[in-house]
Amino acid sequence: MSSLAVVILAAGLGKRMVSQTPKVLHPLLGQPMLGHVLDAAMQLAPDKLVVVTGHGRAQVEAWVAQWSQANAAKLPAGAAPQCFEQPYQGGTGHAVQCAQPGWQGADEVLILYGDTPLLTAATLQDLRKARAGGLLSLLVGELPDPTGYGRVVLNDQGRIAAVVEHKDASEAERQIRVINAGMMSVDAQFLAKALPELKPNNAQGELYLTDLLGMAAQQGQPGAPHILPDHREIQGVNHRGELALCGEILRDRVNRAWMLRGVTFDDPAGALVETGVELSADVQVGGGVELRGATRVASGAVIERGCVLRDVIVSEGAHLLPYTVATDSFVGPGAHVGPFAHLRPGTRLEAKVKVGNFVETKKAHLGEGAKASHLSYLGDAEIGPDCNIGAGTITCNYDGVNKFKTVLGRGVFIGSDTQLVAPVTLGDQAYVGAGTTVTRDVPAGALIVTRAPTTIKEGWVAKKAELRKGAKPQH
Ligand code: UD1
Ligand code: MG
Repeated sequence: MSSLAVVILAAGLGKRMVSQTPKVLHPLLGQPMLGHVLDAAMQLAPDKLVVVTGHGRAQVEAWVAQWSQANAAKLPAGAAPQCFEQPYQGGTGHAVQCAQPGWQGADEVLILYGDTPLLTAATLQDLRKARAGGLLSLLVGELPDPTGYGRVVLNDQGRIAAVVEHKDASEAERQIRVINAGMMSVDAQFLAKALPELKPNNAQGELYLTDLLGMAAQQGQPGAPHILPDHREIQGVNHRGELALCGEILRDRVNRAWMLRGVTFDDPAGALVETGVELSADVQVGGGVELRGATRVASGAVIERGCVLRDVIVSEGAHLLPYTVATDSFVGPGAHVGPFAHLRPGTRLEAKVKVGNFVETKKAHLGEGAKASHLSYLGDAEIGPDCNIGAGTITCNYDGVNKFKTVLGRGVFIGSDTQLVAPVTLGDQAYVGAGTTVTRDVPAGALIVTRAPTTIKEGWVAKKAELRKGAKPQH
């Protein structure tokens, strides 16, 4: 079996990003661009995975190590990515030279760019097949505006005679619309022989990897082009406009794939679903919704407009009304949440729970059928099934130093405008009168109520008005 090394070039300066963050670490739909490239590479089950780093090297290498750890189980043995430093920007040919100890010994070297994040594994397989035992194959596209790209000069047989960089191209060559996307599959032996022969005789004074195409043609074995029908896949990122464009393309791709799997989108262009999210058939996603991280949404759930969920499990038939924000939470089957609810980390809502508008929860467990319909803060709370939490209920869980727990049994009724001063426990069916400050545990079935004395003075308003008339004006 022939062995494959994938080399990802990621040493570029990325000057036009105007950023402290290395270009390849800029996020795209939930993970750095480099992550998307590594994911596609991993699907090819390579024997070696190599990343060339330079600009922002420490940050890039730290992130690669993190990715490596997260994907250890999915990577073939020995294929954990290895980073090689390109100490200065000597060009794409120089970058591949710097990584030679990483790819040497493989039969095939597949070269990818860290800043071209939308390529699919299927396209890369097609590119590899296009080489068909020859010296190299190159991914090419036809662009309406090829400015800036290397132009691909084809011979009469439709094979590649040479690639000419835009800066080195003649006027006639600049009319060519077939461009080099940059990715290539190369016979490793040819690569090892050809690299030392590269010369920086060009407008940029660099070692151009693309000169390999001319060299192969001169040896009578010209490279094969693999022409990509959808040029959106080779969209690269040089500045933030292109980063946003890649985001748009990827979002569209992800959302279309979910639609084919039975998810309804009210406004597919306006919904953002990160690549780590999983949706089931018959989920409904409203406009402006953001589903991030490892969010999972089960069948029949409705996520209405403007909801923002990160690492949330939404169970079957749950309904999230508009503008619910939730993080690291569980929403049980048939639960109703929002509008304008805030589920903070550690929230767990069991089946048929109702959490209404302007309710904030944190480390709160609401048992089956419990309701908190309006204006409450429930933090560090264990709330039994069928409890009814009145409007304006606050768990006072923090004394400025420590956090304390509020525990409610089954079917507890909390009247409106109640403070539960934790630590506090209320037994099953306990009943709290409106406006009570609960500072003591309440036994099951008991009523607790605090009332300040009430005064009613008949005719007081009129008397007050009389007094005001006689009063001297105040200056
Ligand atoms: C390169 C190609 C060009 C192609 C274009 C597609 C060459 C000589 N030119 O040009 O034909 O149309 O990509 O986008 O190959 N990099 C390094 N070290 C370097 C230089 C580059 O690691 O010294 C990396 C960059 O980080 C990037 C990739 O290689 O991921 C491409 O580099 P870039 O400078 O963008 O090349 P282009 O001039 O765009
Ligand atoms: Mg470029």
